[in-house]
This record gives sequence, C-alpha cells and structure tokens, in this order.
Amino acid sequence: MVVFSHANWRKPTIRTLDRPSIFLAGALTALIILWAFFFFSTINSPPNNTCNCNQPDPAFNLQFDPPVSTFYDDPSFGYTLNKPITNWDKKREIWLTLHPSFKPRSRDRVLIVTGSRSTPCKSPTGDHFLLKFYRNKVDYCRIHGYDIFYNNVLLDRNMPSCWAKIPTVRAAMVAHPEAEWIWWLDEDAAFTDMEFKIPFEKYEGYNFVVHGWPKEVYEKKSWLGLNAGSFLIRNCQWSLDFLDSWADMGPRSKNYDKWADVLLNVFHHESDDQTALGYLLLKDHQKWYGKKMLIETGYYLEGYWVVIVDTLKNITERYLEIETSAGMLRRRHAEKVSERYGVLREPLLKDAGNEFGSWRRPFVTHFAGCQPCNGKHNPLFTAKGCRDAMNKALNFADNQVLRNYGFVHRNLSDPSVVSPLPFDYPA
Ligand SMILES: *[C@@H]1O[C@H](CO)[C@@H](O)[C@H](O)[C@H]1NC(C)=O
Ligand SMILES: *[C@@H]1O[C@H](CO)[C@@H](O)[C@H](O)[C@H]1NC(C)=O
Repeated sequence: MVVFSHANWRKPTIRTLDRPSIFLAGALTALIILWAFFFFSTINSPPNNTCNCNQPDPAFNLQFDPPVSTFYDDPSFGYTLNKPITNWDKKREIWLTLHPSFKPRSRDRVLIVTGSRSTPCKSPTGDHFLLKFYRNKVDYCRIHGYDIFYNNVLLDRNMPSCWAKIPTVRAAMVAHPEAEWIWWLDEDAAFTDMEFKIPFEKYEGYNFVVHGWPKEVYEKKSWLGLNAGSFLIRNCQWSLDFLDSWADMGPRSKNYDKWADVLLNVFHHESDDQTALGYLLLKDHQKWYGKKMLIETGYYLEGYWVVIVDTLKNITERYLEIETSAGMLRRRHAEKVSERYGVLREPLLKDAGNEFGSWRRPFVTHFAGCQPCNGKHNPLFTAKGCRDAMNKALNFADNQVLRNYGFVHRNLSDPSVVSPLPFDYPA
C-alpha cells in the first residue's frame, strides 16, 4: 500500500506495486465479489433498518418534528414584514432543543439565499447565464456542505427589484432556524475561489457583514463604498429588527419618500437598497447597533469584475506553479474531501495577498452593471464585453470543480470545450 503524506508525496510507479501484489489484489477482489454475490443472493428481504449502520455524522433527522408547539404553531406569527417577530433568539433556541440532530454545529451553519425575477430574461442569453451563475453557487455549496435557496418569486409586491432581497432574507431566516448565517448573493455573482471559506470565527461579535471600503462610506459618504450584492446576516432578533429598519426605507413603507430625500441629501444618490444600507451603516456607526455591522475589507466577499477578470490568467499560472512544486496538491481525490486540499494550499498562498493586486483567486466576482438578465448593461460596458468576462470567470471557477471530475477548460473563453486531465497534472 502506498501511504501519502504531505511531505513525501510521490507518484506511485509500477515498481511500488510489484507484480505479485497486483496478482494478489486481483485474486482478492474476485473472491470478495463472489462472496458478496452469494451473501446477497441468500438474503430474501433486507431488514427494515438497513441504513442504520454507519450513518454519516452529523446525521440530521429529517423525519422528526415532535408534536410540541413552537413559533410555527402560533397563528399570529408570520413570514412577512408586516408581522413583527419578537424574542426570536429564544424561539430559535427552543426549536433547536426540540430538534437535537440539528444542534451540533448550529453556531456556524450557513444558508445561501439568491434569486432572480419570475419572468423570462429579456436578454436572449440571460437565462443561460443565470443558470450558469446558479450552477456555480450549487457547486460551492456541494463542496462546503451549505444549503441554498433560490427564490424566483416576488414575496412582497411592494418590494420589487433590488429591494426584493429583504423580504426574501427574512422569510429564509424563519424557514431555517437551524442556520446561523444567511448569506445573500446576487444572481450575477460567481464564486471564483471554490476553496476559500468565510472566516466566520472573525465575526463572533457581528451580525451583519458586507464588503466595501469604510472610509468611502463613513467619510466620503459614497453609496459605492459598499456593495449590497453579497452580505452575511446572522439569524437572530437583532437582524430581524435590522431588516425592519432597512425595509422601512423601501417602497413598501409610508416613510419611503421621506427616506428618499434623506438619502439624496446624504449620499447624493437615489433611493435603493444599497444607498439605504450605506445610510444605516453611517447613521449607527458609533452606536451599539452599528457596532454589530462590519464592512469587510480583507477579502472579496464580493469583488468588482472589471478589476478582476484580466487577472485570472496570471492567477491560473501562479496556481499551476504552486501545484508543480507541491505534489500533494496534484493528488486526485473525491470531490467530498476537497476542503482538505484547500487547507493544504493555504500556507503556499501566504504571499499572495488578497483583494486588489493579489494573485490569490478572487473569492466572489460580481458582474455589477452587466445586468445579464435584462441586458440593460451600464453604458460603460458592451454586451459582448460582459459576456466574455462572465464566460472567463465562470470557466475559471468551473475548472476548479471539473478537476475533480478529471477535466479542464484549457481555453477560458470557450465554455463548451474541455479536455481530460492527465494523471498527476500539472507535474
Ligand atoms: C501578468 O503577468 C505578466 C508577467 O509577469 C505581467 O507582465 C502582466 O502585467 C500581468 N497581467 C496582469 C493583468 O496582471
Ligand atoms: C478560445 O476560445 C475562443 C472562443 O471560442 C476563440 O475565439 C479563441 O480563438 C480560443 N483561443 C485559443 C487560444 O484557442
């Protein structure tokens, strides 16, 4: 048997598996197959609990919901913004106690929430790209064991377009008391580092995290100092209250016009979810409320595609260099254990930096301004420029996934062509 370890990984050659042991292994396999055949053919009917042995850990009990009343049984309790929720932390805690199989790791469980409109995209390639963006998110979730909810209906008629995320996130919190964090991601954002994991331990004292530049928000009062296309929000009472305040600035609220004036005054920009969020950050910055909100500057919780896409080629090359010298990273493995290889790679990225100017894979690339669905891109870009960039980023991400299936896009601009990966690539 060849034992791999980080330090002395070598390509197993035919010499390490000498002929007698190959013969022996073949004979053993044949014996096992024969035994299994006779064993299973003698069993008439399998016992009822065939799956009880060797259950994965943690095993969620998906069929257990005890007949003890919880917030779900309270008729006054609701999923919509017009039904205020109080004491949510206690309610969530009680639910978890009643469903003990969800309790382990309930302090860092993540639900990704994303969505798009309910009608077909106006742009002829829109739905095609949305499917790719969604597939990309599903890939990340499968690799890291996260759940995902894709909403494509308007939950609150008075909260259309960019505001729709607020009622969606709120409903997701209530539907998922087992999740500690809800992670909103826009439809046009893609994971471009399938290995990177959010450092949740850093957010112990925070309930809301968004990517941006604090100086731009707090000093320059720029609505572009943050981006509301990707944010983390803890599933707790604070967050429900926060979503109420945020929604109060939106079109469903009787205060909408009043807030629109305030936002125009302070941020010199029309009212939208992002300007409103900027205002909430600014207004409560020094208060207890605001101290629970963090503008993340350390990595691309979302990054602007314009500054990212041209760096992907060089980043690919740097990662290939690393893999040429670190044999362990070339080792083929089951997709389920991919996180292990992310951990092994981390020390080799210590000089890569992060965010702008870095050669680390950007975590999330956001195609802000491209509007892939309705096609009404920002006049600064062309539709083709956007499509080319989206293809590049999505294929860059896809390569990290397809690798575990034995394939690679050699040309990032060509989504339809892949080639098989040779063994021990890229040695
Ligand atoms: C990629 O690397 C080359 C060679 O080091 C360098 O000249 C070029 O500017 C880099 N491109 C980008 C977009 O960083
Ligand atoms: C990569 O694919 C694009 C799109 O199909 C094509 O135009 C380009 O020539 C290809 N590049 C190479 C180096 O083959």
